[in-house]
Amino acid sequence: MTIHIKIPNRTWDGALLDQIYHSIQSAPELGFVYKTSLSDLVKENENRPSLWSAFLDSKLAGTAVVGSRAANHHLWRHGDIAVFSEFRRRRYGTLLYFTQILQAILEGRRIIEDTIVPDLSPWMVRPDCNGQGFLPAVGYQQLGIQPGRTRAFKDIELWGGDTDYLISNFFDRLPDDLKIDIYDTPKVRNGFQKNVEIFDKYSPKLADWFRSQRNEILTGDFYGIPLNVTVLADDSQIRDSGGNWVKSSKGVRQ
Ligand SMILES: CC(C)(COP(=O)(O)OP(=O)(O)OC[C@H]1O[C@@H](n2cnc3c(N)ncnc32)[C@H](O)[C@@H]1OP(=O)(O)O)[C@@H](O)C(=O)NCCC(=O)NCCS
Repeated sequence: MTIHIKIPNRTWDGALLDQIYHSIQSAPELGFVYKTSLSDLVKENENRPSLWSAFLDSKLAGTAVVGSRAANHHLWRHGDIAVFSEFRRRRYGTLLYFTQILQAILEGRRIIEDTIVPDLSPWMVRPDCNGQGFLPAVGYQQLGIQPGRTRAFKDIELWGGDTDYLISNFFDRLPDDLKIDIYDTPKVRNGFQKNVEIFDKYSPKLADWFRSQRNEILTGDFYGIPLNVTVLADDSQIRDSGGNWVKSSKGVRQ
């Protein structure tokens, strides 16, 4: 039984895509989530990964999305995440966050953030509800609080940490027997280039770290974690006129 983190795309069966949207929409903690905002992320997956789903063999277990990437190119913000209740506490959520940090490394994003409403999802940050707390368990720290920020006057907490520090906390907490799909696209590479040029100026050591980790990911074996890497060449088109994935420098997207 393999856990596989996949990057859904518009060529997938519509019923399966609906199930993926449902996995996020049916979590009451996340409030109302428009289907179009999720289908837009599936569309965006053709340019750069933005929504991931975890499967146990062919069974959908959960989904996670990126939060906003706009404006700040050096930041990665996690978005909504939900794991079906029958799959919870088996580290699928941890694996979906780990996958996003791999993506952040591919894009050269040096800070990871997450916003939490503890009144709705106390398990994300509170070490007092039958666990260490999802984020503290992998080294995220509280960075600030916006009191009464939501429509229902609930606090929003900002949590996060440096990418190079956080990634190291995940390895011992990942489930066994897993595989993660990775796409390296022109948009992803452009973002990386822009970020490391700035790191070269202010923190050459960090620039070296990002270059080496990015290369490590692209080998398809990230410290023993098997990655399914697809690299799209700069001049390749994502789809042909029939809507099929086209050939990339390292293979065919499917
Ligand atoms: C949050 C969620 C995605 C976590 O998924 P998951 O696959 O069960 O999480 P993991 O198994 O990777 O848990 C990692 C750690 O988080 C903490 N944790 C997760 N769920 C917890 C819970 N219900 N109570 C207490 N701690 C919890 C534990 O420390 C756990 O480690 P442990 O099992 O070794 O004790 C899942 O509970 C969910 O879908 N919840 C509803 C939606 C939601 O709250 N989303 C987050 C909104 S910001």
